[in-house]
Amino acid sequence: MENSEEILFNSPAQDDLVVGDQFSILKGYGTYGIVGAVIVAVLIPVLLSPIFMGKKRGKQRGVPAEVGGEAGYAMRNARVTELIEVPQKGATTMAALFELSCKKYSQNQFLGTRKFIGREFVTASDGRKFEKLHLGDYEWQTYREVFDRACNFASGLINLGHNVDSRAAIFSDTRAEWFIAFQGCFRQNVTVVTIYSSLGEDALIHSLNETQVSTLICDAKQLKKLAAISSSLNTIQNVIYFEDEGSSDTSISGSMSNWKVASFSEVEKLGQKGTVHPRLPSKNDIAVVMYTSGSTGLPKGVMITHGNIVATTAAVMTVVPSLGSTDVYLAYLPLAHVFELAAESVMLAAGCSIGYGSALTFTDTSNKIKKGTKGDATMLKPTIMTAVPAILDRVRDGVLKKVEEKGGLAKNLFNLGFRRRLAAVEGSWFGAWGLERMVWDAVVFTKIRSVLGGRIRFMLCGGAPLSAESQRFINICMGAPIGQGYGLTETFAGATFSEWDDTTVGRVGPPLPCGYIKLVSWKEGGYLASDKPMPRGEIVVGGFSVTAGYFKNQEKTDEVYKVDEKGMRWFYTGDIGMFHPDGCLEIIDRKKDIVKLQHGEYISLGKVEASLQSSNYVDNIMAYADPSHNYCIALVVPARQALEKWAQEADIKYNDFSELCGKAETVTEVQQSLSKVAKAAKLDKFETPAKIQLLADPWTPESGLVTAAMKIKREQIKSKFKNELQKLYA
Ligand SMILES: *[C@@H]1O[C@H](CO)[C@@H](O)[C@H](O)[C@H]1NC(C)=O
Ligand SMILES: *[C@@H]1O[C@H](CO)[C@@H](O)[C@H](O)[C@H]1NC(C)=O
Repeated sequence: MENSEEILFNSPAQDDLVVGDQFSILKGYGTYGIVGAVIVAVLIPVLLSPIFMGKKRGKQRGVPAEVGGEAGYAMRNARVTELIEVPQKGATTMAALFELSCKKYSQNQFLGTRKFIGREFVTASDGRKFEKLHLGDYEWQTYREVFDRACNFASGLINLGHNVDSRAAIFSDTRAEWFIAFQGCFRQNVTVVTIYSSLGEDALIHSLNETQVSTLICDAKQLKKLAAISSSLNTIQNVIYFEDEGSSDTSISGSMSNWKVASFSEVEKLGQKGTVHPRLPSKNDIAVVMYTSGSTGLPKGVMITHGNIVATTAAVMTVVPSLGSTDVYLAYLPLAHVFELAAESVMLAAGCSIGYGSALTFTDTSNKIKKGTKGDATMLKPTIMTAVPAILDRVRDGVLKKVEEKGGLAKNLFNLGFRRRLAAVEGSWFGAWGLERMVWDAVVFTKIRSVLGGRIRFMLCGGAPLSAESQRFINICMGAPIGQGYGLTETFAGATFSEWDDTTVGRVGPPLPCGYIKLVSWKEGGYLASDKPMPRGEIVVGGFSVTAGYFKNQEKTDEVYKVDEKGMRWFYTGDIGMFHPDGCLEIIDRKKDIVKLQHGEYISLGKVEASLQSSNYVDNIMAYADPSHNYCIALVVPARQALEKWAQEADIKYNDFSELCGKAETVTEVQQSLSKVAKAAKLDKFETPAKIQLLADPWTPESGLVTAAMKIKREQIKSKFKNELQKLYA
């Protein structure tokens, strides 16, 4: 059976989240009515606009702060004078926060999972088989019920024979049981090791061995994989698996005979029968060792304390406007990623409902959704969701493609509506757009919004920088503000967060109220904290969210973590930032990605890539600069559709895509397009790749060339394409 088992982001070419047939502007509206309404709605604000002109937005969001440690330019959030440490009194650990929330919101809906109705396989025209799921409505458990299940799991874990002084690991897709097992471990002060389910075998073996995990908690579908590598998993004693309804994946093979294997519900029953007294952690205890893929070598385990988790949770809660128990959150990003884990912690603290879904069942037209049945978003109708830029870019491309296909009046209306709304969002006459906004929403945007359930009121975005175009597009089409966060696993996601009423683009907001952001001069790179008008330098994060360091790697820990004379922890991110006068941070570069060329010019590879990405021939790109030359080069994964379309129009014959990529005409065409966008982005001559090579195969997380968040991994790409790079410079 050929089937796509990828977790999120894996195949950018796939239409997982592309907006499908639901998108049909004008269905059911009379054309005359619309045109009339639009004319009225456009005219009124245009006539009124002079009255509202000149409303200034200059709110101070961050203010300079006095801090210890290395000299630099430090900021704190303008809303607080003292850093926030806990979401509520007494919630000093994740375990305490969980218990307090479950008591406070005991009767509220907490975790929801879709009812499994059926599974079928369809055969595509090329003979490949695809699994399709028929899923029903969400089935909910209250905070009280979830609390009881976590307590039972905690007792069951001990009764099964888990030694409380050893660690447990969770290796699974995002689902309700993940969260329950996680909380269960904390009731017994057991540290949880988390591993991305898309990491390779070597990384899995390395992580489990390094942390000496004795109990592994996983999806049933991982059992087969574990059996195959069981001889390398020397520390494992117990395996607990999450059952999958309607699946026959649960095969326990002979090679697992050394392990005690039990299903999640068996462990819960074990706990129900014999309650074990809880053994609660304190704030400095390590809650999680989170393995991050990192851009080089084996993954590193980041030690996250209970205090780190509650600090970020407390801070982010203040950023989402009027977050409360009526909010519904759609959870589908990997929980082994710090961004999703932080977001779900925030929902827990605020008493919200969390409905689980997946990237493959997200919308009505997602890959795994049976035709004619509902996707997660349309079923759940969430009010809040998280996204990474790669997903928002795809949503945007999907909508634009549909608009283009429609053509005619629908396209013109969309473009007009979009331009008008853009002018309103970017302009300064907020007051006048109420009526016009309503009309545009009714005519154009409501249909688009229905793809995500129609109730989204806030989006959290993180993981990588979001392009200004995508941010605007989502603002307008989804009608919701986007909070852009900046943070790393090492700061438990918490560093900065843009505020909902900040309508600017390209920035990541002021420091979160749980910490400080300091810019430290980096002289070699030419970025100084004393730069005018805006201070620049390496971003250093200080405060309660800064984690305890890397597991069993003191050397690396000492390199990037420092404790100042006042006892505050600081983490050196390696990213270069710049403070705007209102206290908001903009990420402008990465230390590692700056190369000094032969004649002394500094070239920022990240900047070059970000600029060239806007060529419609580029699916992915890595710029490369050798310090012994005075120009840069680039490896380009071309956007297949765009390139094939060009080839057809230019009447170029080829057998397969890689042959097309190798043709001189093709390279010239792409290179011309790159030069054009480079010029538009005002890149210098040395910043425009002098030579390029086209690579036919897309870069995916499995290939190890990009991270799960689709960031390129320079070192891996460099070593894989060593010969190509050499040839380009030859
Ligand atoms: C596991 O870790 C030990 C050291 O703790 C090391 O000697 C051994 O080679 C590792 N095994 C694997 C399979 O990585
Ligand atoms: C939690 O466990 C850690 C490691 O096993 C231990 O050092 C710590 O003292 C425990 N915390 C409490 C409050 O018992």
